[in-house]
Amino acid sequence: MQNFSFYSPTYFSFGKDAENNAGTLVKRFGGTKVLIHYGGGSVVCSGLLDRVKQSLEKENIPYAELGGVKPNPRSGLVYEGIELCRKEHINFVLAVGGGSTIDSSKAIAAGAVYDGDFWDFYCGKPIEKSLGVGTVLTIAAAGSEGSSGSVITKEEGMLKRGAGGDAMLPKFGILNPALTQTLPAYQTACGIADIIAHLYERYLTNTPEVEVTDRLIEALMLTMIHEGPRVIADPDNYDARANIMWAGMMAHNNSCGVGRSQDWNSHQIEHELSALYDCAHGAGLAVTMPAVFRYVMKHDVMRFAQVAVRVWGCQMDFTHPEVTAKEGIERLRSFLISIGMPKNFAELGAKEEDIPKLADMACNVNGEDGKLYGFVTLNEEDCIKIYQAMV
Ligand code: NZQ
Ligand code: ZN
Repeated sequence: MQNFSFYSPTYFSFGKDAENNAGTLVKRFGGTKVLIHYGGGSVVCSGLLDRVKQSLEKENIPYAELGGVKPNPRSGLVYEGIELCRKEHINFVLAVGGGSTIDSSKAIAAGAVYDGDFWDFYCGKPIEKSLGVGTVLTIAAAGSEGSSGSVITKEEGMLKRGAGGDAMLPKFGILNPALTQTLPAYQTACGIADIIAHLYERYLTNTPEVEVTDRLIEALMLTMIHEGPRVIADPDNYDARANIMWAGMMAHNNSCGVGRSQDWNSHQIEHELSALYDCAHGAGLAVTMPAVFRYVMKHDVMRFAQVAVRVWGCQMDFTHPEVTAKEGIERLRSFLISIGMPKNFAELGAKEEDIPKLADMACNVNGEDGKLYGFVTLNEEDCIKIYQAMV
C-alpha cells in the first residue's frame, strides 16, 4: 500500500425528512447569507425547494436563488452565480439537486472569492479558498456530495474539465433517499452506472497488496448489483434507494481509493462523449467501460479475473484466466444493459465520423502530453480503437 493522507470532513445527515435540517446545518457551518442553486425544475415540482427555503427561513437565514443548471453543467451559469454572490454578499452556496448542481455550486463558491477567471481552476490552478458549500442531494450518482471535485463544461469548444481541491469539499450533505424516488428509471440507472464506474476506476490499480480497499470496492459493487435491479423494478423501494445512495457517496469520497494508484481513463474517454453529445455521464460510461476494459485487460488479466470471480460470480478458469477475465467484463456489460443503459454509439447518440475528434479531445486537448495516464497509458491511436469498439 502507498502512503496517503485522507481528509473527508463532510457532515452527513441521512434519512427521511433530512432536508428539514438544511437551515440548522447552514447556520452550524457559518452561512449567514445563502445562494440556493438548483437545476432544471425537478426540485420545484417535488416541493423540495420550498421545504429547503422554509428551513432557512426558520433559522432567519436570508437567501438568493439561481436555478437552471443543466446536466453537464456549463460555465455560463457559473459566471452568473459568481456575480450574484458578489453583489448579494453571499457566503454560503447550497446545492439542491444532483452532481451537476453540486459541481456548479462548487465552481461558483471557489470563483466568488477569486480575483481571476474561475476557469483557471479547471486548467490546473490550485484552489486555495472557497465559500462554504452544502448539498441536498436528489440523485445517487456522481458522488460530488462527498468529493473535492467539480466537472464543468466551457461552451466555447465544449471543453469538459475537472477541478479539485479540499477547499471545495462540501461542509455538509443532506441525503434523503426518498428524494430520489421521483427520478425517471433512466436517470436512476445512469446513477448506478456512474457509481459502478467510480468503483472500477479505483479497482484497476497497479499497486500490489491492497486487500482492504479491494474488498471494500467489491462489497460496494455487490451492493449495486443487488440493489440496482430492485430499485429499477420498484422505484419506491426506500431501502434499496438508501443502500444505493450511501454506496454512491462511499464509492467516490475516496475511502476505498486511498493507498493505491487509480485508473480514470474510462472517465476521461467518456467526458468527451457527454461534452460533444450532451448525453448523461452514466450512460456514456456504460458504453465506455466494457470497451476500455477489453482493450486494457491483457495488462493485468488476474485483476480482471479477480473481479469476475469475486463480484460477477464467474468460475475461475485456471488454465485460461483470460476467459474468466473477459466473462467478467461481459457480465458487467449485460448488467448495465439489463437496467436500461445504452450498449453502443448509436444508442448514445454518438457518431462514428466524430471518432478522430473525440480521440484528439481526450488526448491532446484534455489529456496530458497527448496521453491518458491511468491503469494503462493510452495514446490517441489507442483511444481511436476504443471508440471504434463502441460503435
Ligand atoms: O435539473 P433537474 O430538473 O433537477 O433534473 C435532473 C437532471 O435532468 C434530474 N434529477 C435529479 N434528481 C432528480 C431528477 N429528476 C427527478 N427527480 C429527482 N430526484 O436528473 C438529471 C441529471 O442530473 P445531474 O445532476 O446531471 O446528474 P448526476 O448526479 O449524474 O451528475 C452528472 C454530472 O456530474 C459529473 C458528470 O460529469 C456530470 O457532469 N461528475 C462529477 C463528479 C464529481 N464532482 O466528483 C464525478 C463524476 O465522475 C462525474 O464526472
Ligand atoms: Zn463519474
